Amino acid sequence: MFEHLLQPGQIGKLKLKNRMKFAAANSNYCSMDGSVTDREIAFLAEKARGGAAMVSSMGGYPHVLGKAYIGQMGLYDDTLLPGLKQLAQAIQNNGARAICEIMHGGNYAHPHKYGIEGEPVGPTAMEPKLPRYAPCREMSKNEIKEMVEIYGETARRIINAGFEAIEIGCLTGYLLVSFLLPRTNRRTDEYGGSLENRARFVVEVIQRMRQEVGADYPILMRATANDLLHEGGNTEEEYIELARMYEAAGVDSLSLGLGIHESDSPGLTAELEPGHWLYLAEKWKKAGIKVPVMVSCRLSRPEIADKAIADGIIDFWEMCRPLIADPYLPNKIAEGRPEDIVTCIADCNCLDNLLSDVPVSCILNPRAGREEEPEFQSQPAATKRKIVVVGGGPAGIEAACVAAQRGHQVVLYEEKDRLGGQLFPASVAPYKSDIQYLTDYLIAQVSKSGIEVRLNSRFTAQSAEEDQPDVVILATGSTPLIPEIPGVDGDNVVTALDVLTGKKQVGDSAVIIGGGMIGCEVAEFLAQQGKKVTILETQKRIGQDINAINRWRVIQRLTQAGVSQETRTQAEEITTSGIRGNKEGISQSYPADTVVLAVGMVPNRELLTELEGKVPSIHIIGDCSVPRKIGEAIEEGFRLGVTV
Ligand SMILES: Cc1cc2nc3c(=O)[nH]c(=O)nc-3n(C[C@H](O)[C@H](O)[C@H](O)COP(=O)(O)OP(=O)(O)OC[C@H]3O[C@@H](n4cnc5c(N)ncnc54)[C@H](O)[C@@H]3O)c2cc1C
Ligand SMILES: Cc1cc2nc3c(=O)[nH]c(=O)nc-3n(C[C@H](O)[C@H](O)[C@H](O)COP(=O)(O)O)c2cc1C
Ligand code: SF4
Repeated sequence: MFEHLLQPGQIGKLKLKNRMKFAAANSNYCSMDGSVTDREIAFLAEKARGGAAMVSSMGGYPHVLGKAYIGQMGLYDDTLLPGLKQLAQAIQNNGARAICEIMHGGNYAHPHKYGIEGEPVGPTAMEPKLPRYAPCREMSKNEIKEMVEIYGETARRIINAGFEAIEIGCLTGYLLVSFLLPRTNRRTDEYGGSLENRARFVVEVIQRMRQEVGADYPILMRATANDLLHEGGNTEEEYIELARMYEAAGVDSLSLGLGIHESDSPGLTAELEPGHWLYLAEKWKKAGIKVPVMVSCRLSRPEIADKAIADGIIDFWEMCRPLIADPYLPNKIAEGRPEDIVTCIADCNCLDNLLSDVPVSCILNPRAGREEEPEFQSQPAATKRKIVVVGGGPAGIEAACVAAQRGHQVVLYEEKDRLGGQLFPASVAPYKSDIQYLTDYLIAQVSKSGIEVRLNSRFTAQSAEEDQPDVVILATGSTPLIPEIPGVDGDNVVTALDVLTGKKQVGDSAVIIGGGMIGCEVAEFLAQQGKKVTILETQKRIGQDINAINRWRVIQRLTQAGVSQETRTQAEEITTSGIRGNKEGISQSYPADTVVLAVGMVPNRELLTELEGKVPSIHIIGDCSVPRKIGEAIEEGFRLGVTV
């Protein structure tokens, strides 16, 4: 199983124990001056311990004006060497090859925001297209030459720090890419104009670094293969042309990158099927690219990656988010236990953290970025207890599994005939099916953990009396909020959950009350079935609880599907023919066959009062505490599991 992923590999002279690589991830864990922190070291050491052959650092800025994120790693000065050395060593001591990525933020940099004097720089002075960014100024020809020199000096620093390879970050719209794109490079000198001219800076950077490091030291490169721009970008064929130039200039491998921050379509969200971008690698190979090739984007499943290597489409499986969600994925592959892999569901919460200048976290892996924190270590329980977990959603399962691994006797009650809780309705709407991987993973863990599972079993005070547990964990989740609107009891009214689980049918037209995440996804689900859909939302925008990486696209898709979005609108009365609402003081009617409620969830806590005083100890976790999302459910389950 997965023998192609487990084969040894080689990039230049660098020998590699398998075909798996951790792709650069800016975690925002470094200090304001860019120095490496213990947190960053622990984060990457765990990736190495997890079995990947290569672990890349985040893209470090080679010049202070290139700092793009609050906790980005710095590479701009020798004073940073002690931390960089510790990082390289920690990766190597844990069994992986240590690679250091260089990435100047260019017009995405934020010097002023981070207390650095000066403006962001780029090939051409430009106003930002996104609110996060600031105007950038044009680099003079002298500055371009100096920057080439700086890349050379940085290569030397990376070698001095003990890394075994350098990686050039030429993707996502940062400085190097901004020279390649006609929309950001309007120069008329030899660094602008033709494709060859626009590539000149990048090629000079590669050549200067090669000159600095010598023929044998590996230089890896991450390079855009499709910028996902309607205008002002390059074609896929031009990117292949560029790849040939990089190869000729001396890079030892190429990793395909997708999109820039202003792209017109998504590159790495769940909207794209796992393995979607492999066709590009195939194109590069067919075009005669000789150096090893990889693609990290949305390649989340081992069976797809293994086959792509077997078919000669890629040479390595590069993963960023898949190893943030599960650093031990490579070891699990090697040990033949793919069912234990936590598959990244591409919700992009981690990326949203990065762009919001907060430390990166993962909704599926509460330990990400907290690997060394005492409260995230699981130790055998000092006293073995009988623990009853009520509710087989993500919170209950996580708590039950961690507690069982620690040696407790665990009984898991679930009133339905299957485990997973709300993960089932959550995986139904378009582009949400990856959540099924999580459900499968959680169920596999329960079956391996020695937990006694009682399906179709509602826990009651009576059950507590019979079971005599030492501890009860309430993870009973949440149920849809039914608003107090006249007519809400009508036969034409259903909840979003009823619709997504197929319990209730919807007529040809529907008005959805509530335009949050669940309202938006039920709208898309119904629009895909050809129904006429209207969303009523009291706020000024729909999708307020969807992260920024996904929100613009959800709104765009709903608009394209013809879903009417009535914002600043209050539903006042449900009638047999639809809804009477109030849009900014004006009464309106919204005719529909069916009214769908999506106005939030309420904790399902009936049991709490029933159990009080009847069991020695009760804990409440997940939606049962406050209705939120999967990340909170899993984290609270984990935290309680390690302490109970
Ligand atoms: C349509 C939809 C889409 C969503 N999409 C996302 C998303 O994209 N990302 C995200 O992060 N979150 C999403 N969520 C939210 C997420 O699913 C929940 O926050 C999460 O499932 C909460 O987990 P939980 O374990 O606390 O509760 P639940 O998942 O609600 O599980 C509780 C379980 O307890 C059982 N139970 C209740 N009472 C008893 C009893 N007395 N005895 C035995 N069993 C009992 C229930 O049957 C249920 O299985 C979505 C939710 C919905 C409804
Ligand atoms: C939180 C986060 C930080 C990232 N930081 C970097 C970075 O520093 N350098 C880089 O080249 N790519 C960076 N990326 C892009 C990833 O390396 C990768 O190309 C992208 O996430 C798609 O691959 P995946 O589907 O395997 O995650 C980052 C991605 C994420 C999610
Ligand atoms: S936060 Fe979401 S997208 Fe990021 S690694 Fe975790 S599961 Fe994947």
